[in-house]
Amino acid sequence: MSDTSFQTEVSAKAAESGANASAQFAERMAAAGGRRGAVDTARADYLASKAIKALNDIVIEDKVSYEEYNALKAWLIKVGNDGEWPLFLDVWLEHSVEEVANAHHEGSKGTIEGPYYIPDSPELPWNGTIPMRDGEPGTPLVFKGQVRAVDGRPLSGAKVELWHADNLGFYSQFAPGLPEWNLRGTFIANEDGEYEFTTIRPAPYMIPTDGACGQLIEVAGWHAWRPAHLHFKISAPGYDLITSQLYFPGDPHNEDDIASAVKPELMLDPHDNPNGEGEIVEYDFVLDPES
Ligand code: DHB
Ligand code: FE
Repeated sequence: MSDTSFQTEVSAKAAESGANASAQFAERMAAAGGRRGAVDTARADYLASKAIKALNDIVIEDKVSYEEYNALKAWLIKVGNDGEWPLFLDVWLEHSVEEVANAHHEGSKGTIEGPYYIPDSPELPWNGTIPMRDGEPGTPLVFKGQVRAVDGRPLSGAKVELWHADNLGFYSQFAPGLPEWNLRGTFIANEDGEYEFTTIRPAPYMIPTDGACGQLIEVAGWHAWRPAHLHFKISAPGYDLITSQLYFPGDPHNEDDIASAVKPELMLDPHDNPNGEGEIVEYDFVLDPES
């Protein structure tokens, strides 16, 4: 990697990755038919009334002042201007939505998707290498395992979509200067449901600090870190898709992930690869029949 592409990448601005995340989300919602039919009138009335009441209760109980009310108003306007609604919602709310959505699953645990998924990444064989730059910095990581059903049947041809940050904590298509599909790929499991592909170990991720979310984090005295993680979507016809993230032992932010997305079942156990190059790790995915 040249010095100039390094500088382009690290000079990424919150407004830039936020605007990309907002645009990507809008595109996917439009492709799925927009909002039509998603929430009926009775449910919208119930949920919106309850949310508004919860906020009013806080104002009364905690005697919120006009200064605080105006600070909130200015901040909410800034969240929109910075395009940071996807980041805000995925960090502070999505984990509960995911918990509710997948509570009935008996197979592998999942976790939040986050704002940086892009569908239709390049398809690769079960033992391929994820798209990366020449000399991509970072420890090589071989990831192997099997996709199977809860009844133990291997799922031949299952799709294992992987996306993750690079060795500096940046995602392609959301930070400038990275090739379009860098560290994004769709591996197709072999006839035994197996995969054994190569990537690099990602760095911990810091949510952008120069936008509205960063402003809240600073004012409230929080930190902006997510532990290093690999994002996955695992799918096979007739089974519920799993959206997951996997984490590395020893990361200082496994215990205080700002997005509350770490679970004990999602911890990897990497070892030195006997081939002398980097690390190897095994992890299987177990899918529930379509619900
Ligand atoms: C955010 C970023 C991530 O990489 C992730 O997995 C979840 C949330 C964020 O910036 O909002
Ligand atoms: Fe992420």
